[in-house]
Amino acid sequence: MELQKRLSDFQSSALSSLESVSDLKRLEEWRVTTLGKKSELSTILKSLGELSDELKRELGEAANNTKNTLMTAYETALASFKTKVAVEEALDITLPGTAPQLGKTHVISSIIQECCEIFRDMGFVVAEGNEVETPYYSFDALNIPPDHPARDTMDTFWLEGKVKGSREFLLRPHTSPMQVRYMETHKPPIRIVVPGKVYRYEATDATHLSMFHQIEGLAIGKGVSMADLKGVLTTLIKRLFGEDRKLRFRVDYFPFVEPGAEIAINCIACAGAGCSLCKGTGWIEILGAGMVHPKVLKSGKIEGDYTGFAFGIGIERIAMLRYGVEDIRNFYHNDLRFLRQF
Ligand code: DAH
Repeated sequence: MELQKRLSDFQSSALSSLESVSDLKRLEEWRVTTLGKKSELSTILKSLGELSDELKRELGEAANNTKNTLMTAYETALASFKTKVAVEEALDITLPGTAPQLGKTHVISSIIQECCEIFRDMGFVVAEGNEVETPYYSFDALNIPPDHPARDTMDTFWLEGKVKGSREFLLRPHTSPMQVRYMETHKPPIRIVVPGKVYRYEATDATHLSMFHQIEGLAIGKGVSMADLKGVLTTLIKRLFGEDRKLRFRVDYFPFVEPGAEIAINCIACAGAGCSLCKGTGWIEILGAGMVHPKVLKSGKIEGDYTGFAFGIGIERIAMLRYGVEDIRNFYHNDLRFLRQF
């Protein structure tokens, strides 16, 4: 009877200690002490041999029951721990994924692409010039001789030449140099747009940067007139700013065109009534244009009965007007909160 009591005490204390087992490692420890070779159960089972046949049968059955009960308890606990671990370690496929951050086209590049698309639809070809230019193509060939006041309006970044102090190369202050370069190497009819960076040696503020973008346009052919220029620019402006925009052409002076024109659109904020954006005038000046000056055609070695028009557009200005951006510097701070808006 003493053995019977030992068995039932052993069983209940083993079962109660199993309740406090909290992980697989502890469970294995519990199995070794409860069911292992050195456990009290094994000692009891071994001592059965010394008993009489009758007692052996009686206690043997009780000992086997205890062993089976504890084995079952162990297996149940093992299965539940394994499920728990599987659940904890499993991949939760219902969780939303982490999307990789994708880059996107910069707003200025988008506007350039959009303008090029509009010009392509009108039969223009996109050509790119050099950012490092010579004074000849930047000024002289465009009818801006060295003493011409127009040079002062384009404060230039000069690069050091082979001979120290020489002024052989510069960072182009406008995209116009490509006009003459293209004319030299192509025969009319010519219809090109030249997008790209331009550089001016000037102080930076809300409307000025020392690097910005322009698109130059040039069309040369027989009978090309101011009416063609007007048609092309009207198409551009309406596609960029909507059908409601009106264009105003006024005489202006640029050495490389004659006549020259300054083109304004009716204010996109007040539609012409007058507001702070258009400084009360109702109009916003957006680009310069004109009929290519005969001297420029001559620089480009265009001979014969040809005429042409040219224009130059500031891209940042278009972007500022279109999106209501008040400070041009925002485009180049690389603040993703700003850039992601477009
Ligand atoms: N090159 C001029 C500038 O940077 C813009 C310009 C005006 C270009 C008139 C032209 C033009 O082709 O005809 O200020």
